[in-house]
Amino acid sequence: MAILVTGGAGYIGSHTVVELQNAGYDVVVMDNLSNANEKVIGRVEAITGKKVPFYKADIRDREALNKIFEAEKIESVIHFAGLKAVGESVQKPWEYYDNNITGTLTLVDVMRQHGVKNIIFSSSATVYGNPAFVPITEECPKGQCTNPYGWTKSMLEQILTDIQKADNEWNVVLLRYFNPIGAHKSGTIGENPNGIPNNLMPYITQVAVGKLPELNVFGDDYDTPDGTGVRDYIHVVDLAVGHVKALKKLAPGSGLSIYNLGTGVGYSVLDIVKNFEEANGVKIPYVIRGRRPGDIATCYSSADKAEKELGWKAVNGIKEMCADSWNWQKNNPNGYED
Ligand code: NAD
Ligand code: UFG
Repeated sequence: MAILVTGGAGYIGSHTVVELQNAGYDVVVMDNLSNANEKVIGRVEAITGKKVPFYKADIRDREALNKIFEAEKIESVIHFAGLKAVGESVQKPWEYYDNNITGTLTLVDVMRQHGVKNIIFSSSATVYGNPAFVPITEECPKGQCTNPYGWTKSMLEQILTDIQKADNEWNVVLLRYFNPIGAHKSGTIGENPNGIPNNLMPYITQVAVGKLPELNVFGDDYDTPDGTGVRDYIHVVDLAVGHVKALKKLAPGSGLSIYNLGTGVGYSVLDIVKNFEEANGVKIPYVIRGRRPGDIATCYSSADKAEKELGWKAVNGIKEMCADSWNWQKNNPNGYED
């Protein structure tokens, strides 16, 4: 029996495939390559020394999904496939709702038709909106999202919750990620954004490699220790291991489970700049700019529930995250294009 990983050629998906194979699971990957390069599959195989069965297919394509479920013995699905660029979602809401919501509805329908009712879903800290309190526990009420991307996560959580409630053969795990950064220690797989990065760490690494002149720090007047935004950065390999641990929650009768995957520690933008410089001996020039619309001041998790119930805890500190992000970028200045 195998785990189907949708979006498994992407950033978090590829790292999770490595950890699944290392833990002895059989894995099948599907991805439409809308935000990934097929080369990642070969690189994952080189890391694990195992074959990765790969299907280039779209989660909205019912026929293609049926073929995968007929050809492979799938017991559970880890569902990463989705569009994730916050700004783009504001410009293209239909595309985001169609890809993420229609895609997940189609996937889940095909799953149940094949009697596969175990799913782990990639959710996000974005569902907490401007959080009612920090550290954010899973009991923190969901908030107002500021963009269509965030709403797709919030709505899909509700959809999967309702489906599980109506049919208790379903086992559903909603994983709310905080801010994944870093890369596999080999430096052969990592985050590969299209165009100018939106997120902080890939922007910093592109400044470090000389592709961008300086970092724009979005606001230094937040109510935080140094005025810049505070987030809970988590090493992508720790996040990947969290999925392996979450698989045990897909046992019969588990029902619905929700976990934050974060470190429980918040770092400001300037903390990240300083740690990156210290870890790598590279200077990151920056300028303070105005606030980015939709940003919040502070967002960090309580990761206690995942530790207690899954036996999972992030082990990489901020220096390792910075070192591994840089190792990936400097070895692959053009991502998978080299
Ligand atoms: P990513 O873009 O690298 O990976 C997503 C993968 O899904 C890509 O390889 C893409 O080609 C594929 N995909 C997109 N639409 C598809 C479709 N219709 N059919 C098949 N494949 C499709 O992004 P990531 O950072 O690895 O994120 C993985 C998941 O985690 C996403 O659902 C994302 O929303 C969620 N998430 C990411 C973050 C983050 O900061 N990276 C934070 C919270 C949640
Ligand atoms: N920032 C900068 N300059 C940049 C990019 C970011 O100063 O060039 C700042 C932001 O203002 C924020 C912090 O760095 O204070 C982190 O920003 P990111 O864009 O890296 O991450 P966000 O917290 O805004 O959002 C990310 C993902 C979301 C996800 C969320 C989960 O983009 O999809 O983490 O916490 F929902």
